[in-house]
Amino acid sequence: MSEIRNNTVLSGVQPSGDLHIGNYLGAIKNFVSMQNDYKCFFCIVDLHAITVKQDPKILKKNTLEVAATYIASGIDPKKSIIFNQSSVPAHSELAWIINCVTRMGWLSRMTQFKDKAGKDKENASSGLFIYPNLMAADILIYKATHVPVGNDQKQHLELTRDIAQKFNRDFNCENFFPIPEPIIDKDISRIMSLKDGNQKMSKSDLSEYSRISLLDESDQIIKKIKKAKTADTVMPEKIDDILKLSEVNNLLNIYSGFSGLEKQKLIDQYKGKTFSIFKSDLSDTLVERIKPITSEIKKLMQDKHYLLGILQEGRNKANEVAKKTINDVYDIVGLLRNET
Ligand code: TRP
Repeated sequence: MSEIRNNTVLSGVQPSGDLHIGNYLGAIKNFVSMQNDYKCFFCIVDLHAITVKQDPKILKKNTLEVAATYIASGIDPKKSIIFNQSSVPAHSELAWIINCVTRMGWLSRMTQFKDKAGKDKENASSGLFIYPNLMAADILIYKATHVPVGNDQKQHLELTRDIAQKFNRDFNCENFFPIPEPIIDKDISRIMSLKDGNQKMSKSDLSEYSRISLLDESDQIIKKIKKAKTADTVMPEKIDDILKLSEVNNLLNIYSGFSGLEKQKLIDQYKGKTFSIFKSDLSDTLVERIKPITSEIKKLMQDKHYLLGILQEGRNKANEVAKKTINDVYDIVGLLRNET
């Protein structure tokens, strides 16, 4: 274990409000299991959030809410470094250098930009276009070796690897930036909408019934699962048949993610049974697992002072590492930093 502890993990969650079980299963839950084995940096990426319009007052509250969610989910601020991105200036400083390393062609292949910018690309912020460069800076500033991400961020991580390699090569500093490895939980990293199994669960979906928020009360959870789309059959017994029913497959992934039971085990248990039986057990599990997290988030949100203290402590620790890297980068690139 001590050997692994030399490896560094960095990941980030955007404070864009209403964290849901997709964020939890796809990201935060995995963070928790890593903190004994790696040196961990868990960032709240507020600078990424403002690549699209945010209400300034709500953004601050959302930033605290992500910190509260991290802690309520089991991230221990004594073991892991929790901080918000904008409080460590070296992220932005390195991002600029990376803007000058990344090629336009690389960025224009990013599918997330195409999705997020939608039809009106001319009107998207330039920040949204260079978003992946800032993400690469988040990772490389701590020389992270491993990055737990959802499937949708895989392309950005590949770009980060290309950036690290190009920097090392262009500036003749082999091994300066480690080439980070993604950690992707294939089974559950993509939690889909409860209404449409082909769409990702998203906070921007207009329907509340498409997602379960980590702040939902138990009766809301039960109601949402009751309304969730399934199929006009019973639970199939073959995984191939289940995969054809994307909404059912998604509910099984959610069940497996929260119960810790293997999907195949759940299929064996529910095959041939009606979906109402399955849903009722699923609701029970969700309520049992989510309720303690929800109440802890709410409790922590009452104690702003405590949360600010955690973020400050995290910032100080992160700054120490980040400053060293950015000083080395300035030196490598030939920027004169006339400091005493
Ligand atoms: N882009 C990521 C997302 O939306 C968030 C993020 C920002 C991130 N910086 C990161 C994830 C660095 C991993 C590592 O999910």
